[in-house]
Amino acid sequence: MPSAPPLAAHVNLVFAWLWILMGFLTGALLGTGFQRSEWLGGYDSLRRRLYRLGHISFFGLATMNLLFYFTVQTLAAPGPVVPAASWLFVIGGISMPLCCLVMAHAERMKPLFVVPVTSLITAAALTLWEVART
Ligand code: HEM
Repeated sequence: MPSAPPLAAHVNLVFAWLWILMGFLTGALLGTGFQRSEWLGGYDSLRRRLYRLGHISFFGLATMNLLFYFTVQTLAAPGPVVPAASWLFVIGGISMPLCCLVMAHAERMKPLFVVPVTSLITAAALTLWEVART
């Protein structure tokens, strides 16, 4: 009888597909005005760059969550750091595009990026620890 797939990290699989959908939807939103060179202050403006970064970050962090999901499937006995890494990938995934949106409208909020950056660095370090010990 085939063994049941580990439930750990299932949230990352669902999150990854939700974020791919969000990437397409934000792309469609950008598609409404991108042909106008002066849109959102111009292609090189900080606001437009942050909107683009937010759009791309949906795909990038969806990919990280997908990779994490498949990595966990390879672990014979997932250790206690796995749930922490799992949620940190989700927190990083949510907070990164959110920070892009907030900073696009309030440059002084730049320090908020400490949330996604530390979440994602910690998530990657915990995952490395987990795969290296098995
Ligand atoms: C429904 C699908 C998508 C739509 C409608 C869409 C739409 C757009 C639009 C309109 C822009 C230009 C924004 C601007 O001028 O400021 C853009 C930029 C960008 N998109 Fe998407 N996109 C889609 C999917 C993707 C995917 C799958 C990826 C990569 C995984 C991606 C990566 C990028 C990147 C890297 C940029 C920046 C390009 C540059 O700097 O010139 N997009 N997208």
